[in-house]
Amino acid sequence: MAPTPAIPAPASPAVSVRVPAKINLELVVGPRREDGYHELATVFHAVALFDVVTARPAREWGVTVTGPYAHLFESDVEPDDNLAVRAATLLAEAAARTGGVGVTPVHLTIDKSIPVAAGMAGGSADAAAALVACDALWDLNTPMTGLHELAARLGSDVNFALIGGTAVGSGRGEKVTPEPSTSRFEWVVVTADEGLSTPAVFAELDRLRAQRTVPAPITAPALLRALRSGDVEALGGALANDLEEAACSLRPELAATIVAGTEAGAVAGLVSGSGPTVVFLARDAGHARTLASHLTASNVGAQVICASGPARGAHVIPGPRPDTAEGAA
Ligand code: C5P
Repeated sequence: MAPTPAIPAPASPAVSVRVPAKINLELVVGPRREDGYHELATVFHAVALFDVVTARPAREWGVTVTGPYAHLFESDVEPDDNLAVRAATLLAEAAARTGGVGVTPVHLTIDKSIPVAAGMAGGSADAAAALVACDALWDLNTPMTGLHELAARLGSDVNFALIGGTAVGSGRGEKVTPEPSTSRFEWVVVTADEGLSTPAVFAELDRLRAQRTVPAPITAPALLRALRSGDVEALGGALANDLEEAACSLRPELAATIVAGTEAGAVAGLVSGSGPTVVFLARDAGHARTLASHLTASNVGAQVICASGPARGAHVIPGPRPDTAEGAA
């Protein structure tokens, strides 16, 4: 009897999405708005430090965090408290309104490498990744504009995580315009032992500026020129973050970290977003490695990581899909 031809295993219904961390090359904070948010003029830059979010069909909504930061989460995170699960359920509701079929609860596994509560928008990145993963898992083909509408409802940094690269942000940060620069830059990222709360940093800035007139925020043309020309020294001179003053007020040791990096030869250093992560611009990849060794030896911060930018926004990892077992890492 002729051998039975092997039947290929069905594609496993799980989708993994890789999503980068962000830093802000410029973060100009305008006055506090009626809704409690602050009007921003910012330049986002995605760096090659990634979380991977995997969505698998499950009996009920759930989430597990794995990777080097897993110890910061309970063994099983409460789904209601997790922005990535909120993203998945928001997409499911939107799909239900337009008659979407095949939408089932999912269990999300978040393999975290982006530092937590660090000013690198890790939670927002996971939410963006969950939107992209569930959209692919459920075969929704939601247009990018639809994903952006949902992203804006989830948080101010989620829209940027969808597109990655380098982008100018306005509004409360949710309006993003890709920046055409193709220049690459090398960064050294110094994390802190303990996170900072973003609302607390914005509130501290309001306190520090209580007696100052705060103008409407605008992006500096010098920064965009430096990005487009790829001039590292000019970029270093144009990096700016209005939240740095507030982050350093709450965490004075951050100022010492910035001094340590600039004394070790960084082109420039600044607090990333609301902190407490500090990022340093290096001249090239070799210089970044040398700078990282100096910073590691001088015992500043918790972790010292080299990362280049820009990096691609949330995207499905192609190839064989991972195991479907619920909750498997
Ligand atoms: O939008 P997201 O939920 O990430 O913002 C977290 C908090 O950061 C807000 O509740 C607000 O206190 C502060 N924030 C702000 N202005 C912005 C963005 C965030 O005051 N543009």
